[in-house]
Amino acid sequence: MQDHATLHYDDKSISLPIVTGTEGERGLDISRLRAETGLITLDDGYANTGSCQSSISYIDGERGILRYRGIPIEQLAEHSSFIEAAELLIFGDLPSPEERQIFRDLLTENSSLHRDMRKLFDGFPSVAHPMAMLSAVINALQAYDLPQISIEDEESFRRAAALLMSKIRTIAAASYKAHLGQQFVHPRYDLSYAENLLHMMFTQPYKEYEPTPEAQHALNMFLVLHADHEQNCSTSTVRMVASGGANLYASVSAGVCALWGPKHGGANMAVVGMLEHIRDTGMPVQQYLARAKDKSSGERLMGFGHRVYRNFDPRAKVLKQAADDLLDRMHITDPLLDLARQVEEAALADDYFAERKLYPNVDFYSGIILRALGIPVDMFTVMFAIGRTPGWIAHWKEVTDQAAGRIHRPRQIYVGPELTNWQPKAERRSRFGWFGRRSSGQG
Ligand code: SDX
Repeated sequence: MQDHATLHYDDKSISLPIVTGTEGERGLDISRLRAETGLITLDDGYANTGSCQSSISYIDGERGILRYRGIPIEQLAEHSSFIEAAELLIFGDLPSPEERQIFRDLLTENSSLHRDMRKLFDGFPSVAHPMAMLSAVINALQAYDLPQISIEDEESFRRAAALLMSKIRTIAAASYKAHLGQQFVHPRYDLSYAENLLHMMFTQPYKEYEPTPEAQHALNMFLVLHADHEQNCSTSTVRMVASGGANLYASVSAGVCALWGPKHGGANMAVVGMLEHIRDTGMPVQQYLARAKDKSSGERLMGFGHRVYRNFDPRAKVLKQAADDLLDRMHITDPLLDLARQVEEAALADDYFAERKLYPNVDFYSGIILRALGIPVDMFTVMFAIGRTPGWIAHWKEVTDQAAGRIHRPRQIYVGPELTNWQPKAERRSRFGWFGRRSSGQG
């Protein structure tokens, strides 16, 4: 197999090296392209562009494979706690019992928020979306968590990773309570990570919330399955911000903002909204699919399709079974689960989706699980963010470790106005009619 590719352009030709990854995936190293040919590449949405070499997670989109540090997601979903999976992603291998205890103690010691941070929530109206509070308060952590993180010092980084993992959970629960106008609930030191999150969200002054084993298991699995996913939109955002030398909290706060969109982490909310719309309108499933296939409708089949997977998202398979099991064990029947199954079956039998290799992704069934746990839709993407935090921390460190790493700064092809001179006010055309004329080609 060739270790280079040759590009011929005008009277020039350039030999570009091929980089080969652990699993044999190959990339064209174009780092010398512009210097030697004056050309750059153009790749809408980076669908064909690798931004880095990374050792954190691996996806084979054609075969529906996802591994964290080489371990298949199915094994981690079955055997690992969320924190064990988090330590695997952040530190590179499964923790020993001693390492597990050290990290557990750090999570406990760092689970509360500084008293003054509570004022940050008061600054938001009760209608504020929890994702807005989450990104803002995470960013504020930098002001409360000093001294600066020294990633050369293993203990300093371990503490910062535990602090962020623990506090994002407390901030999320506090965002929920602030949204409801209820008192914040302190973390308990005898509960697991997932149990504590449910406790801080649902305990009331008059009634302690006792997480059931199945609720704890389902939320733990949800978090494991969301913990990392290569260079997705929000993780690439964290890496971009980290490449400028920004601190961990600012970088993860930017990742939270990127995750919010309905094409990305906001899809879990959009899936439930879509299923409720189909249910409430009584619209036949085929009619909704027709709208999702009609580009002019502006609708898509939420929870379906993926930039990388051209097969089933392995997480969707695990979550579909977990949703089934959870509802059975909790003796819940959720008509949306039945409807989700109908939609999935109809879409998989439809040429439009089959031809484009559009399959259920991680978001298609995750909302069913969160609903069964009593988590409101507005908190779905917050749950995704909590799950993705270890991945974001691992990627921040991978960028920050590369001291000689270059700041991420893509090029562009400019298609704006040609050279234009400044005009005195009297000579300028009115902006009011201008845009209409311009967009209808009269400009
Ligand atoms: C996540 O990247 C990650 O790893 C993300 C994630 C993670 O863990 O971080 O996996 C989490 O974000 C999962 C994706 C959640 N989003 C959704 O479920 C929203 C619905 N899906 C789509 O918007 C879409 O599939 C994307 C955004 C997920 C992927 O978009 P791409 O890769 O840019 O694909 P595309 O828009 O170029 O689509 C290719 C074709 C187009 O049709 P044609 O132009 O070829 O005729 O497929 C069509 C699209 O119109 N298409 C869909 C569709 N998804 C793609 N048509 C209807 N419904 C859909 N859901």
